[in-house]
Amino acid sequence: MAHDTIVILDFGSQFSQLIARRVREAKVYSELLSWTTPAEKVMALNPKGFILSGSPNSVYEPGAPTLPRYVLESGLPVLGICYGMQLLAYNLGGQVAASQKREYGPADLQVDVPENQLFQNWIWEYSDIDDAPDTPISPYPAIQQVWMSHGDKVEQLPPGFRPLAHSDNSPLAAAADVARRYYAVQFHPEVAHTPQGSTLLRNFVVEICGCTPDWTPASFIEEQVEAIRAQVGDGRVVLGLSGGVDSAVAAALIHRAVGDQLTCIFVDHGLLRQGEAVQVVETFEREQRMHLVAVNAVEEYLEALDGITDPEQKRKIIGEKFVRIFEREAQKLGQIDFLAQGTIYPDVIESAGKDKKDAHVIKTHHNVGGLPEDMDFELVEPLRLLFKDEVRQLGVALGLPESLVWRQPFPGPGLAIRCLGEITWERLERLRQADAIFVEELRQVDMLKWGTQQSFAVLLPVKSVGVMGDGRTYQEVIALRAVTTDDFMTADWARLPYEMLARVSRRIVNEVSGVNRVVYDITSKPPGTIEWE
Ligand code: XMP
Repeated sequence: MAHDTIVILDFGSQFSQLIARRVREAKVYSELLSWTTPAEKVMALNPKGFILSGSPNSVYEPGAPTLPRYVLESGLPVLGICYGMQLLAYNLGGQVAASQKREYGPADLQVDVPENQLFQNWIWEYSDIDDAPDTPISPYPAIQQVWMSHGDKVEQLPPGFRPLAHSDNSPLAAAADVARRYYAVQFHPEVAHTPQGSTLLRNFVVEICGCTPDWTPASFIEEQVEAIRAQVGDGRVVLGLSGGVDSAVAAALIHRAVGDQLTCIFVDHGLLRQGEAVQVVETFEREQRMHLVAVNAVEEYLEALDGITDPEQKRKIIGEKFVRIFEREAQKLGQIDFLAQGTIYPDVIESAGKDKKDAHVIKTHHNVGGLPEDMDFELVEPLRLLFKDEVRQLGVALGLPESLVWRQPFPGPGLAIRCLGEITWERLERLRQADAIFVEELRQVDMLKWGTQQSFAVLLPVKSVGVMGDGRTYQEVIALRAVTTDDFMTADWARLPYEMLARVSRRIVNEVSGVNRVVYDITSKPPGTIEWE
């Protein structure tokens, strides 16, 4: 079953991925492609419409991204967002001007043509209750909060266009040439600060482009099961389970397609969080009834990491060790034809952006250290087209436990890079206990799934003085880290409730031996990173 597709052309905005996510949330399949992608490749997707992203550039700047010719030649509907609007206007004979004032942040959008398709099903707010319409269809000044982030703006619309909305600083905040199905907005409908933005995008892709909203986990499973069967035939597949969401969901999907032709290898390096290693075995061996090779490599890892304190060296050792163990175990399985990986769409987009070639790279974090290039396997990567939220929905649809599917991202090198300084079993256990308390308390106040995107404990290689009972203590410090973030590229520290922090601190100091002090990390990223190492 082929889905209708929307192509989003990426001109370099930090929000481009969000556009693709919002369109997919409207159950319409979308792909994010660089504006430099060859025309044949884009048109081969048989798109039903285009969305042009924003960009940090200015259309008149030498070397600025240009509108590929096939977009207007196709006769398909186009929605230009921010730079996309300017590009559209510029290419169709309008005028773009550098704005005196850069506009950044929330703005009140005054919709002047509320009957336009873009604004259907909006939930209106009114600046003043007297402005509210007496009857739903009477003309009204419809105000709505939107998010602006631009310098340049369209000063004169191209022939055929009509203004649809304005804001204080943007007389042309939205416009359209309805006959040619060209739409343009100066604001960013894809960000959460534009509350009706998702509805606008849905209106564009479903009503204006005519896409059928049928992109669902169930339809994806059906398609991928067929695709995997076609690719694998009666070959054998091996997959490295990391304990994380992506490899788990990939395993469940491939297992659904080819059953026992799949063997999973799980290397327990002793660097997972509390209870995770047991859960992997329970879930995959007992519940999903997969062929699972679980390797206990804890001693081997501890030995290799003995005395190592440098973070990059830790990463290197853990990566190399994984490769060696994985190879060793895979060899024992006899003839293997395919290597499956939980590569997901943001990995593909990121790598494509980085080296400007078609991304078929093995991402470090799916297999801890990256597998050697000379491994003679064909890759199976059924999640290549999915965003993280979609991977999670798929996991639930495949019957994986919620506690696994909703797990927060966890770095490949695991607790090794959260156990600062030397790694010993005792210190790892200390960290695991503290981390489990933090996670449990976050869950209690319902902040684990939505309140923070990543939250964990870090064990510091510092001792400090304390007093417990009548005695002086001299023990280690636990730092708590909890961040809110959309994309993990930037992040802010989570404003956790004081009461909850107090409980966590009390419990850690009382319950975890060897820890007498707890601190909370209030550094944003940048300048900090999310992890401490
Ligand atoms: P930073 O610390 O760079 O982290 O702000 C951003 C995201 O990447 C994760 N991270 C890693 N993931 N291997 C991984 O697989 C690593 O070596 C690694 N280091 C950081 C981090 O957990 C966060 O989600």
